[in-house]
Amino acid sequence: MRETVLRLERLTKDYGSLRAVDNVTLEVFAGECFGFLGPNGAGKTTTIGMILGLLYPTSGRVVVLGEEVTPTRNAALRAVGALVGAPGFYPYLSARENLRLLARVMPEVDTARVDEVLAFVGLDPSAARRAVKTYSTGMKQRLGLAAALLHRPRLLILDEPTNGLDPIGMAEMRQRLRMLVEQGVTVFLSSHLLHEVEQICDRVAILNHGRIVAQGAVTTLLANHRDLEDVFIAVVGEQGERRM
Ligand SMILES: Nc1ncnc2c1ncn2[C@@H]1O[C@H](COP(=O)(O)OP(=O)(O)O)[C@@H](O)[C@H]1O
Ligand SMILES: [Mg+2]
Repeated sequence: MRETVLRLERLTKDYGSLRAVDNVTLEVFAGECFGFLGPNGAGKTTTIGMILGLLYPTSGRVVVLGEEVTPTRNAALRAVGALVGAPGFYPYLSARENLRLLARVMPEVDTARVDEVLAFVGLDPSAARRAVKTYSTGMKQRLGLAAALLHRPRLLILDEPTNGLDPIGMAEMRQRLRMLVEQGVTVFLSSHLLHEVEQICDRVAILNHGRIVAQGAVTTLLANHRDLEDVFIAVVGEQGERRM
């Protein structure tokens, strides 16, 4: 049986009277790319906030590598890397200097590892020596991925990582995520872009108004539908489709 890296058990989050995440149960297995798909406002970022121990669930549990994660109990997150929103870096320092600063609190990360992740994300040595304030959105996102990978996480969580990227930047990000999966990293990828998820992920859960409305292997879901967009329209309907 495959090892479960991430398990969400009846995870629920209310903001006042709004139920943003409603009874979400799913499992992510070692070595797969899991797509967490849903339109804006579906509850993806809220779910990821609970996975990363930034928010308390209203009810239900997050379990990472067999250990529950909450804002006060998050030792399991040592095995997790995350790229959520636009990560903050010191603008007057270079990419390399920013990563070396982060690495100071990571005993197992040395300068060679900093250079390795910079090369992996495609920030060549001359770019990596420039101040981050001169970077394009795409370069900042690559640096964000480099920072997330620094400590060799087993599980990588990405919240809409291609937001704001041009088509080439999006394709590069997808290619790097595929390479990471080939290297054995487990990837949990949230996206409102069906096409993107279809290209990289093995299994997906489709979220709408906080609830999982479809879940399964991409190949199984596609067996009865033309593409994931078709699956989405079938389960969510016109209204959801327009907001994608
Ligand atoms: N801090 C918050 N307070 C109140 N409502 C929120 C908060 N964050 C998100 N929401 C609401 O919760 C729902 C889910 O939001 P979110 O998790 O950001 O969805 P997604 O990431 O899928 O776009 C939305 O209706 C959003 O407006
Ligand atoms: Mg979001």
